[in-house]
Amino acid sequence: MPTNIATTIADARRAVAEARQRGLSVGLVPTMGALHAGHLSLIRAARQENGFVVVSIFVNPTQFGPSEDLARYPRPFAEDVDKCRAESVDLIFHPDAAEMYPDGHVTFVEVHSLQEVLCGASRPGHFRGVATVVLQLFNIVQPDAAYFGQKDAQQARIIARMIRDLHVPVRLRVMPIVRESDGLALSSRNQYLDAEQRKNAVALSRALQEARRRVEQGERTAAVLVKLLTERIAATPGAVLDYAAVVDEATLQPLTRLAGKVLMALAVRYGATRLIDNTVLEIRSDS
Ligand code: PAF
Repeated sequence: MPTNIATTIADARRAVAEARQRGLSVGLVPTMGALHAGHLSLIRAARQENGFVVVSIFVNPTQFGPSEDLARYPRPFAEDVDKCRAESVDLIFHPDAAEMYPDGHVTFVEVHSLQEVLCGASRPGHFRGVATVVLQLFNIVQPDAAYFGQKDAQQARIIARMIRDLHVPVRLRVMPIVRESDGLALSSRNQYLDAEQRKNAVALSRALQEARRRVEQGERTAAVLVKLLTERIAATPGAVLDYAAVVDEATLQPLTRLAGKVLMALAVRYGATRLIDNTVLEIRSDS
């Protein structure tokens, strides 16, 4: 089947309805384009698990703050289409902002308590924009399953909570982080880094790995791990820490002692580019 492109909600709905009539299950991969190997891993999972795969490509204005990179966010649409074709995607949904946010749009989704912490603290309104557009996409495509990356751990948690709280009939699939050979987590924003910043960007994954090893060796005090992460970033040329956090994976609230499912997360600025990375550990009560 060729990869079709729909730019209107009506056309996307029609294509999905036809797939449903053919008895196919529907998988949705929401993206903002600039597709890299991380996105391709989501598309491959969707392809494996569904008869009909939809990739949305929409740089969502409501999740960018006034001083953020909306205008310069990469939009290599022709290359993205080629990548989707190579992965046998059935439908690309590529609306413009007026299609998603028609005049008079005033309805937003807020996932309180999860949206204000970590990245939400330095990007106010970001997760309100994310949750709103993701619910719009769910309502338009009505997928059986939707695929997100673990790199955006807070986003995945927020969407999981939104699905639960609003009884959205979709199965959430969160896929592992894809990394460069030196450990840098793939991100569309990595292309903003100059050679020096790119070399030093490996500090995030290295610091998280070191903290992880310390936990595996028995460290259970969150403050010790936060200090270690903070020091490793402080020692990295050109890196400015936004946050180093050791939190409960479900509530995203800071921990004192590690227990249960723990998220260790970093956000670091290299010039105007903000990178994030994380690792999740399960602490058994007897360990
Ligand atoms: O992760 C992203 O690329 C975006 O936040 C998403 C989920 C496509 C919503 O715009």
